[in-house]
Amino acid sequence: MSDLVPAYDFLDSSPGPLAPWRRLRFPVAWDQQFPVSGPLHLEIGFGDGRYTVRRASDAPGERFVGLEISSASLLRGLGKVRKKNLQNVKLLKVGAGFAVRHLFAPHTLASVTVNFPDPWPKERHEKNRLLQADFFKLVASRLLPGGAVLLATDHPDYLVFARAESEKSGLFRLEDAEPPAAVFETKYALKWKTLGKPLYYQVFRYGGALTPEYPGLERDETMPHALLSGRLPSHVYLSKQVTPYADGHVILHEVVQRLDAGGAESGGAKWLVRATVEEPELRQQVLVSVRPRGEGGLIVGLEPFGDPVVTPTTRGAVHAVTEWLLTLPGVAAQTLSY
Ligand SMILES: C[S@@+](CC[C@H](N)C(=O)[O-])C[C@H]1O[C@@H](n2cnc3c(N)ncnc32)[C@H](O)[C@@H]1O
Repeated sequence: MSDLVPAYDFLDSSPGPLAPWRRLRFPVAWDQQFPVSGPLHLEIGFGDGRYTVRRASDAPGERFVGLEISSASLLRGLGKVRKKNLQNVKLLKVGAGFAVRHLFAPHTLASVTVNFPDPWPKERHEKNRLLQADFFKLVASRLLPGGAVLLATDHPDYLVFARAESEKSGLFRLEDAEPPAAVFETKYALKWKTLGKPLYYQVFRYGGALTPEYPGLERDETMPHALLSGRLPSHVYLSKQVTPYADGHVILHEVVQRLDAGGAESGGAKWLVRATVEEPELRQQVLVSVRPRGEGGLIVGLEPFGDPVVTPTTRGAVHAVTEWLLTLPGVAAQTLSY
């Protein structure tokens, strides 16, 4: 039996508006994802998707990618795109920091729209705002020369902040422009309009100056695993532990033993360890399995459940579980591949 399990069953293209980004190669070949080949636009935090749908309906030859971190918003957006049967929209559940960096090739985007970003009004929360100088630099590295960041906000402080941060990045010039009508018809815009609040629109134009380079993600093509000798005890206790790996850390939460497996002696036992893998722009819940292998052996491996992105920190989850197993009586290392 080969112990090398492929980490990904990569897809070249995907039907429908939901882009299974975890199963696509990075950066994504967006030309294979759409039946049209016009300019590629990105929208961050599309909310209920009404602006995305409006823009995509008005420009059927252009391509629109929308990002959301909220599952409820994603579902609402998908519903709207499906109802209109739009072929030029792809929606993804992923945070902007990770997506802009890893899912888009350098200098491929025509625009990046940010409508009503979370304002984080308290000074001590400013660090959570999306449009920081480093993010402007990252976005510039993905924009075509002449491309732009398009911001709508109801929050005057956010506008001032974003202008100052774009200037810090040294890569954008401010441009006054009339907002497209639909910008002030998003869910949030309508809410603020009803309250009589002023709304602001700003274009940040990228002129084409040299941008920083961002190394791609080290993404293993085989699932990390470890071979050990020993047997699984019938009862075991794992206390929560946090271990740093690569750029992030791994949290082991709990171990679950299969009840129907008849215990360790039957050879059918399997444990699943639930872990969180936290990296600067990516947080993943993963499962690491431990099961008997051959005579007196054990195999520890990352489960494909949830299509984890296998980064060096993700491999740390297998490492952390292995290190913990090696503290159990009678368990010893054979081959470690993580
Ligand atoms: C205030 S709402 C605005 C929604 C929509 N643009 C509108 O105008 O109605 C901000 C949205 O951004 C999403 N969001 C926040 N941070 C994000 C990130 N890092 N990446 C992607 N979406 C994000 C939130 O889930 C939320 O839906």
